Order: sequence, then structure tokens, then C-alpha cells
Amino acid sequence: MSKVTVVGAGNVGATCVNVLAFRQIADEVVMLDVKEGVAEGKALDMTQTATLLHFNTKITGCTNDYEKTADSDVVVITSGVPRKPGMTREELIDVNAGIIKGVVENVLRYSPNAILVVVSNPMDTMAYLTCKIAGLPRNKVIGMGGTLDTARFKCYLSKALNANPNEIEGLVIGAHGDTSMIPLVRYASYKCRPVTELLDKDTLDKIVSDTMLGGATITKMLGTSAWYAPGAAAAYLVEAIIHDEKKVIPCSIYLEGEYGQSDICLGVPVLIGKNGAEQILDYHLNADEKELFKKSAESVRVTNAMLKDLGVI
Ligand code: LAC
Repeated sequence: MSKVTVVGAGNVGATCVNVLAFRQIADEVVMLDVKEGVAEGKALDMTQTATLLHFNTKITGCTNDYEKTADSDVVVITSGVPRKPGMTREELIDVNAGIIKGVVENVLRYSPNAILVVVSNPMDTMAYLTCKIAGLPRNKVIGMGGTLDTARFKCYLSKALNANPNEIEGLVIGAHGDTSMIPLVRYASYKCRPVTELLDKDTLDKIVSDTMLGGATITKMLGTSAWYAPGAAAAYLVEAIIHDEKKVIPCSIYLEGEYGQSDICLGVPVLIGKNGAEQILDYHLNADEKELFKKSAESVRVTNAMLKDLGVI
């Protein structure tokens, strides 16, 4: 029996629960929120889709009742506020850091063995904060950003190639930030052919910039941040863990010297299985990519430093 908790029943959290239930990724999914009745209402609504969508996952909603989340195998943390048009993810730190700290402490009280998937923004810093508070082995704290950014990268590549996105390989590493994520064009391929052979430089440059602004573009359109792809990306990670898929998924992990960085959570290719982040893979970056990775780390360190000023670590 597998049990997954999703903390936060907002757009991203609820979408994640919906995907987890609909695809029967876990036997039981608990959704928790601070707003009275919201998680219960959404859980009941989703439960009523069981015969329409042909699933049999148990979905429970609760208001701040962490006891109901007890003994979860995986806990997805989506709590906090989303960004508004024109805001960066980093600007959310003041509000979200305190929220995440409380959530992590409560989650671990009832599920000390859970693997934590961090979705809240600024994601790399929230993953770092979670590592610092949780005191868990680093394989058990996984930041979701690169999973989502990679899905967006493949989406834009598939549009340019007029191809099935599922035939595309590729990855985005570095921070989950508008100017600091790194779509690795050199490693992207379609049906085993490098995309650099299939698309011209201008098209590839545009794909890179569209990917980097993937979240901001949607935020501008909707007035709040995206949820379908972020929720599905979190569920995709949970699936890889619960089903022990040993898939290589870019996600934000606490680094101890890998890619030249330590004491930071940053997006790198990771083998994901039942033990969470089972192995960090070394993709041998070239000099330009190494430089971008270093700059990306520098930008995350600036945001991480604010955690001390806020008194949360
Ligand atoms: C995005 C937010 C969720 O990229 O970070 O859409």
C-alpha cells in the first residue's frame, strides 16, 4: 500500500492530487490545506470522478490535520503563495520560507521516513531550507523545478520540430529561475538525432528563451502562476519514486561537490527510484555550460542567504 500526501490544495497541489489519483500512482492520497474545507471539498469533488475516469485511489482532504498524513511514503509540499505577473519567484521568499518551515516540521512529526518533494517557490531555496530543517539524508529531499522546466523545453522543441514531444530527449539543469535555468541544447535529441542537426541556431535560441520564461509567460496570461504542468511534474516525480522507475529526471538536490558546488540545492540530472534521489549523474558540461552553472549557483546563493536574515535557519 502506498500513501502520498500533498500539502497545499491550491491549483498546483490539487492538480498534483488529481493526476496521482487519476493515474492510480498511489493507493491513497491525502490533501491538506490551511483553509477550512478547501482540501475536503476538492477531495470529495475528485472522488466523485472515480467512475468517470475509472480509478480507485482513495482521496482524503483535511484542514491542517497532520495526523491524517501519518506514515506517508512521499510528501509533496506546494504550500505558500504563487507569484503575480511581473514578480520573480525569488520575491516570494519572505512569505513562503516561514510557511515551508512549519510544514516540514509538521510533516516529519507524522511521517519521519517520507521522501519530500518540494514544489514551493523560490524552489531551489525552499529545497535547501527543507534540507536544513529536516536533517534527512540528501536523497530524501527533492526539488521539483528541473522536471517542469524540462517538460517545457521538450514542449517548445516539439512545436518547432512538429513532432511528438514524447520522442524528444532533453534536460534543463541549474536553478528554477527565469534567468538562471540552463536548457542543455547540446544534449537534446529527437529520435536519437541531436536537435542541433535539425534546427537552426536562431530557432534553438528562441526555444531556450521561451523555456526560461515558460512560467513567467503563463503568469502574465493568467494573473497567477501555472498549475497543470507544475502539478503534473510533481506527480511525475512521485510516480518515479513509488514505482521505483530509476528514471533520470532533472531536479534540485543538495550538492556535496558534484558539478563543482556544495551546500546548495540546484538542478542536476538525478536517478529517481524508491529511495528518492538515488544517484547524481555527471553529464560532463563543457566550459560554457560550466560557467552558466556557476552563475546559476551564485544567484541561488543570494536567495539562500536571505534565509538567515529571515531567521528561519
Ligand atoms: C512555474 C512556477 C510554478 O514555473 O514555478 O510555473
